[in-house]
Amino acid sequence: MTDLIRDVRREYKYATLSSAEIAKDPLDQFKRWMGEAEKAEIQDVTAMALATSDAQGQPTVRIVLLKGFDEAGFSWFSDGGSEKGQALAANPRAELLFHWRELDRQIRIRGSVVALSAAEADAYFYSRPLASQLAAATSQQSQPVDSRDELEQRYKALAAQHTEQAPRPQAWGGFKLRPEAYEFWQGREGRLHDRLQFKRDVEQHWQMQRLQP
Ligand SMILES: Cc1cc2nc3c(=O)[nH]c(=O)nc-3n(C[C@H](O)[C@H](O)[C@H](O)COP(=O)(O)O)c2cc1C
Repeated sequence: MTDLIRDVRREYKYATLSSAEIAKDPLDQFKRWMGEAEKAEIQDVTAMALATSDAQGQPTVRIVLLKGFDEAGFSWFSDGGSEKGQALAANPRAELLFHWRELDRQIRIRGSVVALSAAEADAYFYSRPLASQLAAATSQQSQPVDSRDELEQRYKALAAQHTEQAPRPQAWGGFKLRPEAYEFWQGREGRLHDRLQFKRDVEQHWQMQRLQP
C-alpha cells in the first residue's frame, strides 16, 4: 500500500501560466480560470478548502461551497457556531483553496474574513430547498449527537411544524474573505510548475511575482 501511494504520479501537461498571459488583476484571473473550469464541466467546481486557525493556533481545514465572489471578496455559508465559525470569531485570518485536478490547477486566496449581514443570510437561506433549510435548522454543526436517530427525529419534528419554510437559525449565516494574496498554480510537465502570486503593496495595488515551484 505504502509503495503504491509513493508511486502514484502522472504528468501535468495541459497548459502554462506566464506573466504575459496572466491578468493584471487577480480577480480577473480567477474569473478566467473559474470560467475555464466550468467549461470543462468539472464537478463541484465551487468546492474550496477553507483553512482556519483557532485562538490556540490549531489549524483546521474543510470543504465549503463558494456562493459568490466580487471585488469585496469570496463568500460561503455555514453555521457560525461550528468549529470553523468559532475559530473565525477568535481569529479572522483564513485561506481558501481550489483544486481543479482535471486542469492541473490550484488557486489559493488568503485574507481576513467578515460575517455577511442577517439580510444576506436570509436571502440565501430562503433560496435553498426546504429540505436544506430543515437540515440546517436541525443541526448544531460540529456539536456531538448521541445517534443518527436523534437527528432524524428532530428533523421530522421540524418538518411537521414547518411545511413551507424553516426558520433560519440565528447563528447560521454567510462569511466573506477579503483577498490580500492570491496564488495561481499551473502544473507543468516534469514538475517545473508555474506559480504566480499576487500581493497588495502599501498603496493597495496588486503586485505579481513568480514563485519557485
Ligand atoms: C463538497 C462539500 C461541500 C460542503 N459545503 C459546505 C458548505 O458550504 N458549508 C458548510 O458549512 N459545510 C460544508 N461542507 C461540510 C464541511 O466540510 C464540514 O464538514 C462542516 O462545515 C463542519 O466543519 P467544522 O466542524 O470544521 O466547522 C461541505 C463538505 C463537502 C465535502
